[in-house]
Amino acid sequence: MKITYISFKLFLIIIVIIAEIGNVASQQPLFFQTILDFYRDFFQIPPGAVPDVTNVKKSYDFVVIGAGSGGSVVVNRLTENSNWSVLLIEAGREEILLTDVPLLSSYILGTDYNWGYKVEPQDEACLSMNDGRCSWPRGKSMGGTSVINYMVYTRGFKPDYDHWASLGNPGWSYEDVFKYFMKSEQITVPYIKKSKYHGRGGFLNVERPMWRTPLARAFLEMGKELNYPSGDTDGLTPTGFSYVLTNTKDGARQSASKAFLRPIRNRVNMHVTKRSTVTKILINPTTKIAYGVEFVKNNKKYVVRAKKEVILSAGALNSPQLLMLSGIGPKEHLQSMGIPVIQDLKVGHNLQDHVSMAGLAFLVNDTVSIVEQRYRHPRYFFDYWVNGDGPYTLPGGAEGVAFVSTKYNENRLHPDMELVFGPGAFTGDTGGSLRACFNMNESFYQSVYKPFEGKDAFNVVPVLLRPKSRGFVRLRSKNPFHWPLLYPNYYKDKRDLRAMVEGIKMAVTVGTGKSFKKWNSRLNPMRFPGCEHLVFGSDSYWACCAQHLTTNLHHQVGTCKMGPSTDPDAVVDPRLRVYGIEKLRVVDASIMPVIPASHTNAVVVMIGEKAADLIKEEWEGR
Ligand SMILES: Cc1cc2nc3c(=O)[nH]c(=O)nc-3n(C[C@H](O)[C@H](O)[C@H](O)COP(=O)(O)OP(=O)(O)OC[C@H]3O[C@@H](n4cnc5c(N)ncnc54)[C@H](O)[C@@H]3O)c2cc1C
Ligand SMILES: *[C@@H]1O[C@H](CO)[C@@H](O)[C@H](O)[C@H]1NC(C)=O
Ligand SMILES: *[C@@H]1O[C@H](CO)[C@@H](O)[C@H](O)[C@H]1NC(C)=O
Ligand SMILES: *[C@@H]1O[C@H](CO)[C@@H](O)[C@H](O)[C@H]1NC(C)=O
Repeated sequence: MKITYISFKLFLIIIVIIAEIGNVASQQPLFFQTILDFYRDFFQIPPGAVPDVTNVKKSYDFVVIGAGSGGSVVVNRLTENSNWSVLLIEAGREEILLTDVPLLSSYILGTDYNWGYKVEPQDEACLSMNDGRCSWPRGKSMGGTSVINYMVYTRGFKPDYDHWASLGNPGWSYEDVFKYFMKSEQITVPYIKKSKYHGRGGFLNVERPMWRTPLARAFLEMGKELNYPSGDTDGLTPTGFSYVLTNTKDGARQSASKAFLRPIRNRVNMHVTKRSTVTKILINPTTKIAYGVEFVKNNKKYVVRAKKEVILSAGALNSPQLLMLSGIGPKEHLQSMGIPVIQDLKVGHNLQDHVSMAGLAFLVNDTVSIVEQRYRHPRYFFDYWVNGDGPYTLPGGAEGVAFVSTKYNENRLHPDMELVFGPGAFTGDTGGSLRACFNMNESFYQSVYKPFEGKDAFNVVPVLLRPKSRGFVRLRSKNPFHWPLLYPNYYKDKRDLRAMVEGIKMAVTVGTGKSFKKWNSRLNPMRFPGCEHLVFGSDSYWACCAQHLTTNLHHQVGTCKMGPSTDPDAVVDPRLRVYGIEKLRVVDASIMPVIPASHTNAVVVMIGEKAADLIKEEWEGR
């Protein structure tokens, strides 16, 4: 087994070298898909993967829908009880070695590991994207979105969770959830290993890329320049500049499936069925008890029963879709789709996301940044695969994060803006994968970035951490294979746009600051099409830019809101049970009542850990 694995590593290195020689840059996305298909044909079950169950039983104690960040954790913890049988149903397939490479995230987004959703056009945002539609990638794989994400590990701040609790959700205060962050974590960074804010012995590896561009240090120095502390922002100091922490292991991506499912793949009480799409949750309309699910695998329909519970972990876009398909959702909407209403709840509402503006490019006069062409050198592949080091270990190209406050922030202990530092920019996107994953309009690219294509540049991305705008998810039709309709409503609340303008100005201050002067750092002078009529650098110019080049961190949450029974918008109670329905729980990003000031993966893992304990409390000993 070990030998095949190593020889396959070598095989892949050779393929990549051939690709290099063949100069396939222009057709890379297609090329990538071809490698993936080839590999998957060869390896039905990649080394170390959880096997796909061949005979699904008629019933299990628990049926879990979705093997993403939430589902993987719940399945791990529930199968700790050997008396319980669990079936995990996942629409996607197994991950492969290429999905592990942190720097290649934008290429993976162009493959069938991504559901490929695009949002509906709106007037206030996404104006530079094709047809005004931003991309909303979602992982379709064992590991879910943690297979295509950027792996940045953060977990939010005390006020985030104390706010959840204050909304009527006992058990979700910072003090309550902190122990679950600790439980899942395995920190390997020597210098913070001793910190009492990081856990050891958990399943989820947290490390820090060893390789760094010289620009990263300058970013941290800029923090000092601006009087922010540097160090670990997961501790109690909420604002500050730090190097990224990542969900990687020895430089390779560690998805939720790799972290939580592969190590327990020998548990006989766990069955996993892959490439299996759930089409409906079965609920008795009279008793309102969920008793199983219906799913499709290889064009064949299956029905499986859940003796104890159905657990929905299909993510913030698909969980509301499945609830609505099953008769749980806003009454009028379901009726207009011709779906019999079992429970009238505000499913799909309360959608929140971290909108950003990733379009700044700070040009530098030396070869210190990441320009794609340069890093296609076989030496770097070798460094990654053999040593777990080098530029390929950078998570989606991010090196540093800063949590800061704009002048609008009313609570200094709760940052309202994040600045993500990337040692590359759209000018370095010579292969086109980056703009493809944002759905960026080609004529926009041509006028803003083409003049500096292949030139060294870096990026500071402002991220609005506490948005006021709310979007929603709707069904397109009652066909479960149709994509849901997605309405982000970015900048619908004008306060969000004003705060983003402050964030962009902070990013410009950092990017053109003293520490970057040694490379003669300067902002890309090209004006954004559609904003030429405004004074470059004015507030209204930056507002226009934010509305044109609307990017986001893909942190969609909130569509099955957790809340007390007195909250008319709540879909699940504080124990994550769907209101009005028995034996049905939601465990993923959709339950968050308010988006935390954090990247969401570790938060969803925490939700999975906590949910498993709630379930055990209710069923153990019964
Ligand atoms: C490009 C990108 C970059 C990101 N970067 C970061 C980052 O750096 N740091 C961070 O913390 N977060 C990041 N995130 C966000 C983070 O990864 C997600 O918030 C998190 O993974 C969501 O977990 P989840 O369990 O809610 O859903 P998911 O992980 O999406 O899991 C849902 C699973 O359900 C499956 N499924 C859906 N419908 C069905 C069905 N009908 N039948 C069967 N299976 C189904 C899906 O295939 C999927 O596997 C990023 C996200 C994206 C898209
Ligand atoms: C499993 O069931 C047996 C027999 O009912 C019981 O003794 C045991 O405690 C159970 N194990 C767990 C982990 O609940
Ligand atoms: C691309 O953007 C330009 C303006 O920047 C616009 O004129 C054009 O219609 C857009 N194209 C598409 C396909 O959206
Ligand atoms: C880059 O610019 C800085 C500041 O102008 C200058 O000191 C430095 O020598 C330049 N470096 C290169 C490699 O041209």
